[in-house]
Amino acid sequence: MTDIITIRRPDDWHLHLRDGDMMRSVLPFTARQFARAIVMPNVSPPVTDVQKTIAYRERILDAVPEGMDFTPLMTCYLTDTTDPDDVARGHAEGVFTAAKLYPAHATTGSAHGVTDISAIYPVLEKMQAIAMPLLIHGEVTDSHVDIFDRESVFIERTLSKLVCDFPALKIVFEHITTRNAADFVMTGPDTLAATITPQHLHINRNAIFAGGIRPHMYCLPIAKREEHRLRLREVAVSGSPKFFLGTDSAPHTVGAKESACGCAGIFGAPYAIESYAAVFEEENALDRFQAFASENGPRFYGLPLNEATITLRRQSHRVEEILEVAGEKIVPFHAGEAIGWRLILE
Ligand code: NCD
Ligand code: ZN
Repeated sequence: MTDIITIRRPDDWHLHLRDGDMMRSVLPFTARQFARAIVMPNVSPPVTDVQKTIAYRERILDAVPEGMDFTPLMTCYLTDTTDPDDVARGHAEGVFTAAKLYPAHATTGSAHGVTDISAIYPVLEKMQAIAMPLLIHGEVTDSHVDIFDRESVFIERTLSKLVCDFPALKIVFEHITTRNAADFVMTGPDTLAATITPQHLHINRNAIFAGGIRPHMYCLPIAKREEHRLRLREVAVSGSPKFFLGTDSAPHTVGAKESACGCAGIFGAPYAIESYAAVFEEENALDRFQAFASENGPRFYGLPLNEATITLRRQSHRVEEILEVAGEKIVPFHAGEAIGWRLILE
């Protein structure tokens, strides 16, 4: 039995850092594990152009603790009025690594998102021409569609057509939660990939209702039935280069979660790499862990692999019930549970 895992330093291909004090407090949790992270632009107000993104990146870089090596990879928040030339300029200048498509009102911080995909076709044409990846929150927003079906219906109504209309556009189907999404990506063209969160590998929808309502298990897309979780595990550990790590760590204070209308989002950053390691071990796939965590992502994005390494030791430890973050309380993913691996910090 292996007691030590050493892998190339991983990256997080989907992360919410927020802004201000919250950002400064949550950033170290990510920077201690990950060399780079794709930073989501759904802050308030959203980062929708090059200028705002440069300023946001500066605030993040200023917050990286002394001695930690971390590079934020920035994304452009697409709206109905995004200027294709601004996107292309931001990409050429190394400001935007990718652009994020939120269907309007699909999730937290998506009110300024896209109301009609055809409105952004000129932006997508440009992105395809310059090989800039499109990251998609893949859920329909039609309130008549059952919340557990919104990802599958998005594939049928929107994503299938998008993949056909833009055969050379790199698309990341973010935080997939269903068998349907896993199969769509697995059988799709090489230009299509997906991120998978720790929570969707660990929990199914029962976790949200175990003995009462569990707001800290609520995120979007919402966790689905067990059969979907099992298929996500299969594809994550399959060795396919189309699937890679993206935590979707999305901190909200206890007050914002434990409310009559609680926010969607799970704070997975603190023990993210340990959480994924547990999955790969349970699936007898530790030999494929490095590919998922550290290689498939950069290869898809066309970025260099990290040369540094990290080491995890087999060591059971209990995750804090609550963390103090920026003077607020936040419940981390796995709160109160034991995790079998621990990152060793040199
Ligand atoms: C995210 C957030 O809080 O910003 N919430 C979530 O449930 N995942 C937004 C998102 O990625 O959907
Ligand atoms: Zn997210």
